[in-house]
Amino acid sequence: MVGIVGLGYVGLPLAMEFAKAGFRVIGYDVSKRTVDALMGGTSHIQDVPSSEVAEQVQAGRFEATAVEARLGECDAVSIAVPTPLSKTRDPDMSYVQQATDAIARNCRPGMLVVLESTTYPGTTREVLQPRIEEKGLKTGTDVFLAFSPERVDPGNPKWHTKNTPKVVGGVTPDCTEVATALYSMCIDHVVPVTSTESAELVKLLENTFRAVNIGLVNEMAIVCDKLGVDVWEVIDAAATKPFGFMKFTPGPGIGGHCIPLDPHYLAWKMRTLNYKTRFIDLASEINSEMPEYVVRKIARALNDDRKAVNGSRVLVLGVAYKKDIEDMRESPALDVMRLLEERGADVRYHDPHVPRFREDGHEFVGVALTPEELASSDAVVIVTDHSGVDYQMVADHAGLVIDTRNATARTKASRARIVPLAASDASGAEQELAHL
Ligand SMILES: NC(=O)c1ccc[n+]([C@@H]2O[C@H](COP(=O)([O-])OP(=O)(O)OC[C@H]3O[C@@H](n4cnc5c(N)ncnc54)[C@H](O)[C@@H]3O)[C@@H](O)[C@H]2O)c1
Repeated sequence: MVGIVGLGYVGLPLAMEFAKAGFRVIGYDVSKRTVDALMGGTSHIQDVPSSEVAEQVQAGRFEATAVEARLGECDAVSIAVPTPLSKTRDPDMSYVQQATDAIARNCRPGMLVVLESTTYPGTTREVLQPRIEEKGLKTGTDVFLAFSPERVDPGNPKWHTKNTPKVVGGVTPDCTEVATALYSMCIDHVVPVTSTESAELVKLLENTFRAVNIGLVNEMAIVCDKLGVDVWEVIDAAATKPFGFMKFTPGPGIGGHCIPLDPHYLAWKMRTLNYKTRFIDLASEINSEMPEYVVRKIARALNDDRKAVNGSRVLVLGVAYKKDIEDMRESPALDVMRLLEERGADVRYHDPHVPRFREDGHEFVGVALTPEELASSDAVVIVTDHSGVDYQMVADHAGLVIDTRNATARTKASRARIVPLAASDASGAEQELAHL
């Protein structure tokens, strides 16, 4: 019997993989609402169809529960709970601690415990091991403990939990072996490493690599803006190089539970060792300034139309943090909307994946994307380029479009004046850079 603690974006797909491989799976989650929905055959995760959950529940292979003691029935338990940052950008380990304590209270000899939540190097050994050993069980002989980072990419049609290689590192070689043996039964390719610290750092390297490269192309967008060069053309042409280049695209900022947060776990850990992670800090600085850069672009474009941001009606297109998903966590759209509202704009949004959302106690309800809505907006800002949006219709009916994602690249000549993320002429660009 396999247990999964935390049935979110990571835990539910993993639970389904174990169930599909023939294991009996108990999914433990503190959210009664999530548990009830899953037992009713309804999935809350876009990448997991409800039919799949219903099938596994009916077959008796998957059971969601909010009863902690059920973890005692499991031979192996994987933890996939959130690892957010505190307000001071320090790791918030409270979810991992609570999940580990729940397992420790129900732990028995022979059990394998695997942490999947992204975290700083040292967590498995320093935070989990003492808790799991509290009842006198010794790691490596009585219980087995490992870290295995999740690499799920929500909305990715090609790479999912089963066919994405999975890294596993145990506290002892036996721990690595036991965890590798388990995951090999439901994941196509398992990659063992020699320690939990290596496995923890693998995940942070992967996401820091993304954060730094996105920071680089965001800076390249600002550079192109100053030079009056089309940043998309430069990137696409560079990407024709068949070796030594990997394409990243600029945008209004970074979002999701991973890229904006994970590098800070490493930066925090290294601060405790008196080392400053300069690449992380610089990428974070550039990426987090992008919403402000976009809002200044909107202000200048409105100014060209003899309008102020204050009182202008601005339609934000796409609020999820990336295309074709519904996840709003850390979305740069939230910053763009807040900055516009602070400047007095009348902000609306449309997102086919997010009909409504709550932020800071406010309820936001999306508007329908109609020719009338577009025509009555003083500016339309494409923040997230969902595939389901008709950009030709946007370009045909809006007066002014600020396109931060190059979504209108393939639209035909239209009514709208389209302002790209990076200026296609140098005018005003210097003004932009002066602020950064
Ligand atoms: N979302 C991604 O794309 C992604 C990708 C790779 C890694 N990760 C990492 O995986 C971890 C989980 O992220 P997620 O996106 O799945 O989170 P999530 O918020 O979607 O799901 C977490 C679930 O854990 C439950 N939970 C919280 N505390 C609990 C507890 N003490 N006991 C039982 N259940 C508890 C919550 O109710 C929720 O259902 C994080 O560390 C994240 O960084 C996420």
